[in-house]
Amino acid sequence: MKMMVDLKERSYPIILEKGCTQRLSDVLNTSKKTFVISDEGVPECWKQRILTQLSDAVLFVVPQGEDSKSFEWYEKALKTMLSHQFHRKDQVIALGGGVVGDLAGFVASSYMRGIDFIQIPTTTLSQIDSSIGGKVAINVDGIKNCVGAFWQPKLVLIDPEVLSTLPKRHFNNGLVEALKAGCIQDAELFQIFETGNIEEQLEEILLRSLMMKKRVVEEDETEQGLRKILNFGHTIGHAIESYSMPQFYHGEAVGLGMLLMCEDETIRQRIRKCLSRLECPTDIDVNAEALFEVLTMDKKAGKDSVSVVVIDKIGEARVETRNFAQMKELLNRRETE
Ligand SMILES: NC(=O)c1ccc[n+]([C@@H]2O[C@H](COP(=O)([O-])OP(=O)(O)OC[C@H]3O[C@@H](n4cnc5c(N)ncnc54)[C@H](O)[C@@H]3O)[C@@H](O)[C@H]2O)c1
Ligand SMILES: [Zn+2]
Repeated sequence: MKMMVDLKERSYPIILEKGCTQRLSDVLNTSKKTFVISDEGVPECWKQRILTQLSDAVLFVVPQGEDSKSFEWYEKALKTMLSHQFHRKDQVIALGGGVVGDLAGFVASSYMRGIDFIQIPTTTLSQIDSSIGGKVAINVDGIKNCVGAFWQPKLVLIDPEVLSTLPKRHFNNGLVEALKAGCIQDAELFQIFETGNIEEQLEEILLRSLMMKKRVVEEDETEQGLRKILNFGHTIGHAIESYSMPQFYHGEAVGLGMLLMCEDETIRQRIRKCLSRLECPTDIDVNAEALFEVLTMDKKAGKDSVSVVVIDKIGEARVETRNFAQMKELLNRRETE
């Protein structure tokens, strides 16, 4: 199944098909010089699958985990490209989860003022969410994604087959982004999480999530308005992700963020049930003070207010502004619940 993300001259196809990573020459120029960025956790079989189909490739592997989205690895990647004499007409492939996609995309956006970028996402999170939309970034001084760019890929190749090796916790973690998609735009998608068979309906989940993200990105590429609804659960989620111990994964933190921010009690309980079915955490000891502090540092926060996503009904969302005092009040309430 092929769909186009329509962004005028930056339009690109997303291909969602089991086994599509075995047929690269059908969809991309495999004789072009290619810098493949991956991480140590991506199984060798997927790296070899890609490399054996490319006639002129350099593989660059970073350690797994968020710390690779750093100046250090960004610089190493650029220097390796220079030492291998990569040019403007060459291409970068990201083969991995959101960490690899964000780092590789930022490398591609800035190397020689920007070269072609292809996403081959290998986690549920990256297949559903991070590989499309063109947001690429690294973290600096513990602040997530604060240095980056909008750099759209030329192609996104989504092969559900590569998820077969993904540990269950990561598998479920990524699906929280699909649950979020259901909450804000697609009640039928939400229904799958509430009462459906999540594993059997995986391809439908991927497709519906991608369609939602495609629609929103097409309408608002650089997040001037509508795209802000994608941040449901994220403002607080990022705060939880930054300070919490034990460390929550991105999707897990976003799930908790959705629960903390959802003001409608019935909807909140329905989201909680879906998160439980995904074996994701539903309770956290809220430290209102610490959360508030990280929240006000968020790059999307204003001088004295933040944007929050309000769900009035499953499948329908709108963005509102809350001042810091209101946020403090909400967090204090959650702390004592
Ligand atoms: N750019 C965006 O729009 C956007 C959106 C959402 C999240 N993100 C970013 O995405 C990142 C999280 O991404 P993630 O959840 O994919 O985590 P991740 O990239 O860290 O991948 C999770 C783990 O799975 C391993 N892995 C990857 N593919 C595998 C496979 N097929 N089999 C077995 N193991 C595999 C990796 O080595 C890693 O250890 C965060 O940095 C977040 O900020 C970006
Ligand atoms: Zn997210």
